[in-house]
Amino acid sequence: MKNKLKTALSGLKAKNKSTFAFNLQNLYQLEACATVAKKGEVPIIIQFSERFLRFLDDKYGIDYILQKYRSDYTYFHLDHCIDLEFIKYCVDSGFDSVMYDGSAFAIDENIKNTLIIKEYAEKVGCLVEGELGKVSGVEDGFGEEGSSYAEILEIIRYVKETKIDLMALGIGNAHGFYENLDGIDISILKDASNQLEANQLFVLHGGTGLPENVIREAISFGVVKINISTQLKKETMDLVKEFANNNKLYNEIYYHENMVEGLSKLFKNYLHKYTL
Ligand code: 13P
Repeated sequence: MKNKLKTALSGLKAKNKSTFAFNLQNLYQLEACATVAKKGEVPIIIQFSERFLRFLDDKYGIDYILQKYRSDYTYFHLDHCIDLEFIKYCVDSGFDSVMYDGSAFAIDENIKNTLIIKEYAEKVGCLVEGELGKVSGVEDGFGEEGSSYAEILEIIRYVKETKIDLMALGIGNAHGFYENLDGIDISILKDASNQLEANQLFVLHGGTGLPENVIREAISFGVVKINISTQLKKETMDLVKEFANNNKLYNEIYYHENMVEGLSKLFKNYLHKYTL
């Protein structure tokens, strides 16, 4: 079954471009992200952590969110997850892609579980993202400190046996702000790029704080999805503080417009630089 997200991402790869997957956590971000994508006619990925998605589904219902914010340019993705039943639930709910992150497990276990999800998701044309090598830091409750680098022999085996659609690799990248960038080893992506089939694509986690030259180099080796979470959270909080400092009376409509406008700038900046 054809997946529109795969077509969009492959199109970006052919042009040596990438899009971004933003870890959204509120309705202002959702509205800003979906509007920027639709108006700019540029593909964008809205992704949720497992923890936030459970919360969101409980409060609003994921069906409502997908129906309200989906367009030809907005795609929905489940970020790091090891709960196979929850991943299947997201596939059934109509997500465009889901991540099974078995990077903390031994390779055999990682492949076994990835295949379970791949087989399930494939039936409805949902893409699967997998990970090898650990991205350090915690993303909304998932993960731990301490990274590891993806190893080439494991990459070769994993991509061949799982036929994974989207491949995330530990290259010394981290969730959260970087203290230093000395650990980033872009040559892992370069070596691995020779091992992918034409329809297998790279994802880069830990996008916050990566300098432009690293991002551009990663894109040149086939990265088409770059994850951004911490920067978005920080800028959201900065907007809240700025609003609180500059306004004596609270007015939800004005506040809402202010948040959506401010957040739209952030999304546009990323897309203008690396996607358009
Ligand atoms: P940052 O928090 O570093 O932007 O990383 C986001 C991420 O990789 C989510 O999976």
